[in-house]
This record gives sequence, structure tokens and C-alpha cells, in this order.
Amino acid sequence: MCGIVGYIGKRKAYPILIKGLHRLEYRGYDSAGVALINEAGQLNVYKAKGKVAELEAFCAEKDTEGCIGIAHTRWATHGEPNTVNAHPHYSESERLAIIHNGIIENYAVLKAGLMEQGYTFKSDTDTEVLVQLVEYTQVNQHVDLKTAVQLALQQVIGAYAIAILDKTHPDTLIAARKGSPLVVGIGENEYFLASDATPIVEYTDKVIYIDDEEVVSLRIGEKVDITTINNVTKTPEIKRLELSLSQLEKGGYPHFMLKEIFEQPRTLTDSMRGRVNVRQDNIALSGFIDNKERFLNAKRIIITACGTSWHAGLIAMYAIEEYAQIPVEVEYSSEFRYRKPVINKDDVVIAISQSGETADTLAAIQLAKSKGAFIFSICNVVGASIPRVSDSGCYTHVGPEIGVASTKAFTAQVVALTMLALCIGKEKGTMSHEQYLKIVRELGQIPDKIERVLGQNKRIADFAKTFTYAQNFIYLGRGYNFPVAMEGALKLKEISYIHAEGYPAAEMKHGPIALISQEMPVVVVAPRCGTYEKVVSNIQEIKARKGRVIAVVTEGDELVSKIADYVIEVPETEECLTPLLTVIPLQLLAYHIAVVKGCDVDQPRNLAKSVTVE
Ligand code: G6P
Repeated sequence: MCGIVGYIGKRKAYPILIKGLHRLEYRGYDSAGVALINEAGQLNVYKAKGKVAELEAFCAEKDTEGCIGIAHTRWATHGEPNTVNAHPHYSESERLAIIHNGIIENYAVLKAGLMEQGYTFKSDTDTEVLVQLVEYTQVNQHVDLKTAVQLALQQVIGAYAIAILDKTHPDTLIAARKGSPLVVGIGENEYFLASDATPIVEYTDKVIYIDDEEVVSLRIGEKVDITTINNVTKTPEIKRLELSLSQLEKGGYPHFMLKEIFEQPRTLTDSMRGRVNVRQDNIALSGFIDNKERFLNAKRIIITACGTSWHAGLIAMYAIEEYAQIPVEVEYSSEFRYRKPVINKDDVVIAISQSGETADTLAAIQLAKSKGAFIFSICNVVGASIPRVSDSGCYTHVGPEIGVASTKAFTAQVVALTMLALCIGKEKGTMSHEQYLKIVRELGQIPDKIERVLGQNKRIADFAKTFTYAQNFIYLGRGYNFPVAMEGALKLKEISYIHAEGYPAAEMKHGPIALISQEMPVVVVAPRCGTYEKVVSNIQEIKARKGRVIAVVTEGDELVSKIADYVIEVPETEECLTPLLTVIPLQLLAYHIAVVKGCDVDQPRNLAKSVTVE
């Protein structure tokens, strides 16, 4: 939610900031803006509604000089997405400009106090309150900018990653964070600042991840200065980035989403590298090995996540209960954090998050931690907030996922969780050695099998055209493939704006069956395993009511092929691994329907990839 970027150094800041905004656009694209201090000491702020390209067009004829600047791409929270509410925001005297990612919860009280002091407000945002508060503090307490930021933030309740410029100090860039991510890049006589490392990677691989309630002061010729908001000095910890520029480009694909779908054979190989050893028939997960006792003694596992990651958690529930025989509860982080759940010291909490920054999941972890539970996280972004606050975990290593709709992160989460279930099951002796061996060997085959499913892309693209008329879709599945049905429906909703619902196939008769007519496409995930025959009966029930069925089946299935309108085959595999294959056609189907409808696949309306507000 919102991307922030900053630069101070010898180069022209504007092109660096714009490029950075493009990289962060996945975080929000309601409006964009930039603030620069030029040689003459003027602080110029330019803003435009819509995407970064609109800002660039707006700035084409403007003075974009200056070697210090900040820029922002917005996902609207307070105030509608328009130019006035776009960031950066000036202070009353227009001496300061601020950008902000997060929400200031007590903005109304602070604003009322400032209005009493004669401050006026142009926008409806909480952010403008913050910059006014900093200026008010600076003026009334006669302190420098850093101290004013510290004092102002002491009064703030909420989440923030901010960056501030002061035109009377064009050699200083101040930033701070609490709850929203912030990374500093260290170059030669220059500093970069961003919500994640993607705007920084082409200039330096040396970064510092700023922690909650820390204020960072960046000045040319001086070392990075970090203090807490209470002015306690911190020692910066410089880390090396493991990110390459090519990972941030489309590599010949029309959209990041398609690239990421097609990357899955490789990304899953990367996720399993050094962990799944097919030759030795073994899985080694260091996060498990180092904390074996916590898992073996766990009375219960609570999985907490949002969106697609929550669906991966549901699949894990089936695998962990089947193989490790530990009761599992899967919780939406946003509900869990507020519903006073019973959490015990011997519970293991698994938090799943691609970005590692989702505010609700972070809060759920903090709650569980405060009750003494052990926190294990499955995360993709290395160094993000969630892995940093967890006791242990497992990175998925799929590289940056840029398409807002999650694809490759999902399959890697399922692989990581399956590996974990197998490690616990083997160690506890709750699964047979034969079962364990079969699944380990089969995991090694999954990348090739996904490759075979991807070979049907063209055919899926062809029949996807038939369904662009639809207003509604139903997705059905059972067992391990019920969460896949929900994930397929979510993908379609997110990027094509067609209403879709994922349902357990057997529940259809308790409601959704009333919706079925020849207008209603029904996607049925029906690989040959578990409750296959029962799902076939559900397909018959749909056909009897003239519904149109798209079925995902196991290769060689003759039964469903005869009754369904369209059939997509996936190779045979172990039941617990079927989601890794059955979800691929659903990702492709959603993608192609959205493309034919002319939707913005990588940046669907109203969504953002990293949800750092609750
Ligand atoms: C947003 C994204 C989804 C993602 C969810 C959870 O809604 O658009 O793709 O599944 O957040 O994000 P996380 O980073 O915690 O997995």
C-alpha cells in the first residue's frame, strides 16, 4: 500500500525517483507525486492522479532539477484518489514536503489541535496532518528537523513509513518507519530510500532495513544516522542484497503475471533446492530442524494469513493433519487479531505472507507472540518485517513477484508447507516411510509436470474467449482441491472483475445450485483422487441444469471428458500435491479472460500487492 522512494547524492534525482516509482507501482497506483529541491533552493512538488506515467507526462515541461528528492505512488486510504490528496504534501509554510505509507489513526485529534493554532489544510489526508505537526514542532520548540520528526512521531498512533524534505536544508533527507517497510541503499556519496529494495538494486547492493520507531537521517558526506523516536542511537546493520535487475523485468512476456505463471517450474525448483533431496529420499528444512521440539510438542498449529496466502494455509491444513496428525486451524489474520483467540504456549503459529509486510498478519503474529506461541513464517521477500519478527521460518525464494495477483508465490508456499508437514510427519512417525518416500520423489517431479500443464496455454487462451460474456463464475473442488477452487475464483475476481465464488463441491446442493443455468460457467477441479466419484456426480448435477462445465482432470480421464464442455488435463501425482498442478490452468484461465476483456492484468483496479494497512 503506497510506495515511497527517495534520493540524495550527486546525480539528478528525478529519473531515479521515477524509475523507482515504476518499480513500486505494484503497491498502489491511484496517484503519484514527486518533490525536488533545485539548485536555487526551491522545493517543487508535482502530482498527478492515476499511474506514474501520468506524473511523467505532467512533469514533461516542468523544472525537475535537483539532486535531492522524494516520490510516492498512492493506494488511497484517507481521501479520494485525486491530485490534492496525492503525495507529497507541503507543510503550512511550504518549507517541508512529506511522503507517507500507512495510516495515522489519531489524525483527527492532531488536526483539531493544529487548526486551533491557525494551521490550514488543503487535503483530506492524514499525511498532511503529520507534516504540519512536524513544522509546528520545529517552529515552536526551536529544534532541527530530525528532532521535530522524533517529537511529532511520539504523538502519533498508527503506521508509517515517511520521508521528509526541508528546503532550508537541501543536504538532508529524513525518514522514519513504524509498521510500514523502509530500506536505505548506500552508494558512493549517495543514498537511496524505498519501500523495498527494487528501486535500489541497480545502484547498490548495500542496504539497511530500518526498524519500527527508528528515524534515519541521510546527509551527503556523513554516515547513516539512525536513532529511535526517543533519540536512542542505533548501530546500522548493513546487509547485501540478493536481487538481480533481470528479475524485475518482463523478459519478453506481455505481462508480469504471465511471466510469473510460466516461471513456476523454475521457481519451485529454487524453493526445493537444498531442501528436497530426491537422491537421498530426504527433506531438510533448517527452520524445522533447529526447532524440532516445538513442532513435535505442539498441541495445535494455527495458520494465519490473508488472500492467496490464506488459501495456501488451507491446503497445508489438509497435509499437516493427514501426515503430522496435529490439529490445525486456519485463520484470516484480520479476524484472528481482533477476536480474542485462545493461544497457548505450546501452540505453533505459522504465518504465511508473500510480501512479509501484510499489516494484519504482522499484528496476528504480535498477538500470538505475546501469548508465548512459537512463530514460524513462510515468506518470499527476504528481510521483510514478518520474517524478522518470527522465531523461525522458511523463505520461498521465488524472486520478486510483481503481478498484483499472486501466482508463483502461492505454489511455492504450498511446497514449503508440504515440506514442513512431511518433516513433522516423518519425525513423529505419523506417516509411513513408503508414503514419505513416494511424496518426496513426486515433489521432485512437480516442476516437469507443471511444464506439461503450461503446454496447454494456447488451448486455454482459445476457449477463455468464450467466457468473457459471463457475469458470474462458480468454482468447485473437494479436499485438497477445495482451496484451489477458492484460489481460482479469487484470481478471476481480482483481474477480470467477474464475480466468482469458490465452493466445496458437495456444498453446491445447499445453495449455489440455485444459480446454475446455461449462463453460468462452473469450473470443477476434479483430479482422479479422494472423492473423485462424488465430484463427477456434482458435474452431472450441473449438466442436468444446463450449466457449462470447465473441468480440470487427471490425464486420461474419460469419464469427465464425456460430460464436461471443456477439459484441461493435468498429470497424475500424489493427492497432496495435486493443487500444485490443478491451480495452473485456473491461473491461466483467469489471465486470458482478463486479457480478452482488456483489463489491466498486472495492476487491477483498487488492489495493491503489499497491504500495509488494516
Ligand atoms: C493482497 C495481494 C494478494 C495477497 C494478499 C496477502 O491482497 O493482492 O495477492 O495474497 O495481499 O499478501 P501477503 O503478501 O501477505 O501474502
